[in-house]
Amino acid sequence: MKISSTQTIPEHTQIPRHVAVIMDGNGRWAKKRFLPRVMGHKKGLDALENMVKHCAEMGVEYLTVFAFSTENWRRPQDEVSFLMGLFLQALQKQVRRMHENNMRVRVIGNRSRFNDDIRKGIEDAESLTAGNTGLTLTVAADYGGRWDILQAANKLLAEGVSEITEEAVTRHLMLGDAPEPDLFIRTGGETRISNFLLWQMAYAELYFTDTLWPDFDKAALEAAVASFRKRERRFGRTSEQLPAEQQRG
Ligand code: IPE
Ligand code: IPE
Ligand code: MG
Repeated sequence: MKISSTQTIPEHTQIPRHVAVIMDGNGRWAKKRFLPRVMGHKKGLDALENMVKHCAEMGVEYLTVFAFSTENWRRPQDEVSFLMGLFLQALQKQVRRMHENNMRVRVIGNRSRFNDDIRKGIEDAESLTAGNTGLTLTVAADYGGRWDILQAANKLLAEGVSEITEEAVTRHLMLGDAPEPDLFIRTGGETRISNFLLWQMAYAELYFTDTLWPDFDKAALEAAVASFRKRERRFGRTSEQLPAEQQRG
């Protein structure tokens, strides 16, 4: 007999440990309001701050967000400069608030193209929060999934390995010490990965919503998690092979 999952699993075990988000739709949010695109990014930062809070309250352990892709340098210079300014501001202000709440902040990506202030801001934010034990927020900035796999492979070459294994690549990725994402969310209506976490998303549950990122609130997060909880994660097995409490439907 199959027992309904809600009867057997305590609430918290159905919460994804690791949520990865492509925060998309800032520009369209602004456009709809006849505002400059950058106002959408400003609102998007507020949405991120709320998201961090709601994820922590729910018991999510890792939140990884795509803030700036390796391809986003192609945007108009004004917009790129504004985004860099916002990033620096967040590293100083929001990070302090996160530290007060025992949260850890990490940045993944190719830091070499950032200016010195941002690089220092990243280092300070990471060292300030390194010892915290609450939610880990990882910000992907000048990040690309292909870049990540290549940097892992290059590290392995530098170590002089004779063979590259799946386990070794996983360990050398930027998120090598975190569990793989359980739930992937993309806002803004597009249904693509845009070179985000390619290797790590092999078995993530995908969730796409038309909601624009600045509008993504607590109710929107709850809807995504509710969808996640209905999924049956089989990892290649049949439904019948799963423990009763993991079977759905
Ligand atoms: C996502 O919003 C934020 C970044 C890529 C920095 P967009 O700026 O891509 O918003 P849309 O897709 O143009 O609406
Ligand atoms: C992906 O969004 C990157 C971030 C949200 C930072 P984009 O808006 O850049 O993606 P594309 O260009 O529509 O694929
Ligand atoms: Mg976009």
